[in-house]
Amino acid sequence: MIVELLVSVFLFGLWRVNSELYLHNTNDVFDIESYDCLRVQSSLVYCLRPREPIDVTRDSDTNGCEQNGGRLHRFSELRTKNISLSTILHHWRSSLERVEDYSRYLRDSSQSDGFLCECFHQGSFGKNCEYRLPIGESVEETLEWQLIMRMKNPRKVQIHGDVICSETLQCDSGVLCLDWREICDGFQHCLEGKDEENCDLLEMNQCDEEEEYRCMNGMCILDQFFLDGEFDCLDWSDEMPFKSSGKCSLESVSEECDDHLCPPNEWSCGDGQCIRDRLAFHDYEFLTCQSGRDQYFICETHAEKKLWTMSNGRCYDPDEGNERCEESSAANHSEVEQCEYLLKCSLSEDAEKDCHRCDGPGCVEKLRKVCPSTLIRYPQRAIVAPFLFFLFKYTKNRRNNLPYFVLINGTIRCGDSFITVIDEIIPFEADLNVRRLMEDYFCQPVETSSWSELVQPHRECHRANESTDRCEEWNPCMSITRIRDGWWNCLNLEDERERTSMEIEKSCAGVRRDRFRCSVEEPTCLSVMKIGDKKTDCLNRFDELWFENGREFSSMNCNDRTNDKCSFFRQYIDESWRSASMNKSEISSGQRITFRSYCDTFWDLHPEEDENLLKCRHW
Ligand SMILES: *[C@@H]1O[C@H](CO)[C@@H](O)[C@H](O)[C@H]1NC(C)=O
Ligand SMILES: *[C@@H]1O[C@H](CO)[C@@H](O)[C@H](O)[C@H]1NC(C)=O
Ligand SMILES: *[C@@H]1O[C@H](CO)[C@@H](O)[C@H](O)[C@H]1NC(C)=O
Ligand SMILES: *[C@@H]1O[C@H](CO)[C@@H](O)[C@H](O)[C@H]1NC(C)=O
Ligand SMILES: *[C@@H]1O[C@H](CO)[C@@H](O)[C@H](O)[C@H]1NC(C)=O
Repeated sequence: MIVELLVSVFLFGLWRVNSELYLHNTNDVFDIESYDCLRVQSSLVYCLRPREPIDVTRDSDTNGCEQNGGRLHRFSELRTKNISLSTILHHWRSSLERVEDYSRYLRDSSQSDGFLCECFHQGSFGKNCEYRLPIGESVEETLEWQLIMRMKNPRKVQIHGDVICSETLQCDSGVLCLDWREICDGFQHCLEGKDEENCDLLEMNQCDEEEEYRCMNGMCILDQFFLDGEFDCLDWSDEMPFKSSGKCSLESVSEECDDHLCPPNEWSCGDGQCIRDRLAFHDYEFLTCQSGRDQYFICETHAEKKLWTMSNGRCYDPDEGNERCEESSAANHSEVEQCEYLLKCSLSEDAEKDCHRCDGPGCVEKLRKVCPSTLIRYPQRAIVAPFLFFLFKYTKNRRNNLPYFVLINGTIRCGDSFITVIDEIIPFEADLNVRRLMEDYFCQPVETSSWSELVQPHRECHRANESTDRCEEWNPCMSITRIRDGWWNCLNLEDERERTSMEIEKSCAGVRRDRFRCSVEEPTCLSVMKIGDKKTDCLNRFDELWFENGREFSSMNCNDRTNDKCSFFRQYIDESWRSASMNKSEISSGQRITFRSYCDTFWDLHPEEDENLLKCRHW
């Protein structure tokens, strides 16, 4: 009862006033995985999650409140002073559980005395006032500041904070740590494919056909959330693409972005944004991660900017403020370190303070003197893929800052076997395709002497049955619902090649209520993410235009729960399957009739609606 009351007071307070701060899950517990949770914007909860379970013991620490200048109050003293629960709850920024203890104490005189901290110094909070906001008085203020900083100067913000890593899976992913979104994304980011183990369980998952929608990644959501104008699948595959993931880096906090998984074959920027080409920054300023994650640890290879890789891997941009980067220069660099440092100076045209004109021929001499070999490995650990290393030379690539070669060294999984390749050096190519490299160098069943293990890759699915299919290449097993869904999964695009109606009827059967068929002549099982994405997937362009009427789906926003434009699309998708036996002209006239009448109904219900949307009336 009390707990309920507190929770409602708590939510009410949060909703009303911004500067308040509430911490829960603060109880002392042994062997705990997460604690001290902050709720932000009513739906997001952030907790402390130590690397390993720890024992939290704070209740006996009566000196604890003094951290950050907090003040300790005994329950008995608070009662004497008649300080209201609401003051404590909303203004003292301590622990919700302790406030509950005090409330219990007030009601029941047999409860033993306890204490509470009052955190009143700027931005301090916590059960023992042990935390402090870096700026501002509330989480909202801090987040807003961060957002403003980010918008003002995206690269500068990289300087603050660390690269976000997924710590739950320990593996060798090279120098760039794993983002949680990379686990089970169909690509091996760790040596031996540790991040892709047992993922076929999700891939082959089937949802309740009657009541659920199957997201592209295998998750199930209730059918009523399909095409309702809000993202419910983590990969956003339950809605038309009304939001670009690039917006994620300019949002302060959002569940949509925090939880966003990337679609097949895209690369995660770590903040919800996904990009098609992980190395795009080698060529362009745009199409890159706004967070800069794609550039971490190889900042100097940027096509246009002269960036410097700091020790945390992030990029320092000396253009801003005209100051060069200043790294605490270690007096005793090893040869390898000195060599790397000079290479960075050379590539970045002296972006660091102690680089001395290493942008000309003099530098080549210096490099020659210091570096142990003519091929300079940078960074030292693998980058782009866990088995891939970049190799540079004394002289810079004239056209750009790219490496001359890549070194392949490592083990990955091909089907059921592990294949190791050692010290294979190949020229770097600008359109470096890591999946292709994996196929060509690891998973092709060719016998080469450089192979340490002459195992023929075994290419069967683990749990193959009629709901699975497989690519010819290393990608071992996939759900048949990926056939003709508009996203390629197999390297040779085999999953997207033309299929007969019969084949599609079979592979799409379990999900077809939610997938789009271009036409009888061009049977597809198109994901709703492909409808209105401004890229034509159907020969008749029915995925982008409302039949031939010219109205573009991309401008008909189904992006709001309260908006019944979405039901148009649900009907449209449904309709695409209905006329299986009709020929082309029959279908388009049949569908016209259906939609004309649907449109009229809609118009009658919503005379105020956007006139453009209703152009369908004028067919
Ligand atoms: C305590 O405060 C409440 C509300 O502020 C008031 O109604 C009550 O009379 C006070 N009690 C004492 C003992 O001062
Ligand atoms: C630098 O290296 C030399 C020799 O290896 C050593 O004597 C000296 O203490 C080192 N200095 C620092 C600051 O590490
Ligand atoms: C290649 O990998 C093997 C085994 O992981 C390692 O022992 C070896 O040093 C690596 N070679 C290079 C050049 O890094
Ligand atoms: C196929 O395998 C999956 C995963 O084991 C299972 O859930 C599904 O029921 C199987 N389908 C059929 C038709 O047996
Ligand atoms: C479609 O079917 C109708 C009625 O069966 C027929 O009149 C028409 O010629 C057919 N059109 C084509 C293109 O086959």
